[in-house]
Amino acid sequence: MKIINTIEEINEIINHLKKQNKIIGFVPTMGALHKGHASLLNEAKKLSDIVVASVFVNPTQFGPNEDYNKYPRSLENDIVVAEENNVDYMFVPSTLEIYPTNTLTTIHINKLTNIFEGKLRPGHFEGVGLILIKLFNIIKPNYAFFGQKDYQQTLVVKQIVKDLNVDTKIIVCPTIRLTSGLAISSRNTYLSEDELQQAGILFKAMESAKDIIEKGERNRSNINAAMRNVLLTNKNIKIDYASIVMAEDLTEPNIFQPGDITVLLLAVYLGNTRLIDNSLITFY
Ligand code: PAF
Repeated sequence: MKIINTIEEINEIINHLKKQNKIIGFVPTMGALHKGHASLLNEAKKLSDIVVASVFVNPTQFGPNEDYNKYPRSLENDIVVAEENNVDYMFVPSTLEIYPTNTLTTIHINKLTNIFEGKLRPGHFEGVGLILIKLFNIIKPNYAFFGQKDYQQTLVVKQIVKDLNVDTKIIVCPTIRLTSGLAISSRNTYLSEDELQQAGILFKAMESAKDIIEKGERNRSNINAAMRNVLLTNKNIKIDYASIVMAEDLTEPNIFQPGDITVLLLAVYLGNTRLIDNSLITFY
């Protein structure tokens, strides 16, 4: 695996690979690589000749009071994980390389970004959009791989790629979970041992919603209440949202119909750590 720090050097490599008609699979990350990332890298390997992973903690997607400074950074371990998972090139630019001081362009995405994560983290998806457009322009991947864990992010990315005619196919890969059901995430490192045990409650909340849906529940408020009731059995939990929504556009009909493809969306604080999760459900 080669580690590349500059846009100039990765441009040269990509141009060379493109001339050879190589299929490029790209896994953008903020580092702190874990089993979730490994599964994306493995999917990338299946579909591509060359796998490129980026490691860049993107400042523009963090709000002023968010965890940019304390976000886990573990480049040495990331290199090991990337090598173990057949990455060919690891792109690790500096902040200045990506955002020279004269950067003036921003990107705004309507609708999808005013709700749920977008509403609670103003500017977050604009930052995600900006970095991804930059990385897609630099890497020019045939495929780019994202985890379903960040469900709203996957919708935003697909929308940007469609609206801006980016020639990259977006592949969404399943969430990887611990045996407790907790979705694996870089931010899980913020949890104490005790909180880690408790965090399986997000999965249990989604299971309880699935349970009542299987028994015939169609009413959105009742399904949301089922998730909230489970979550609120833990005094350390503060709910940002726990909602069943249409998977396509995150809208919230009062009653669901047969054939509706929906997603349970959760964001909670467990102690000081914010956790998100989701699960897709089709109504029959
Ligand atoms: O999901 C992430 O880790 C980040 O939002 C991404 C896609 C790498 C952009 O910085």
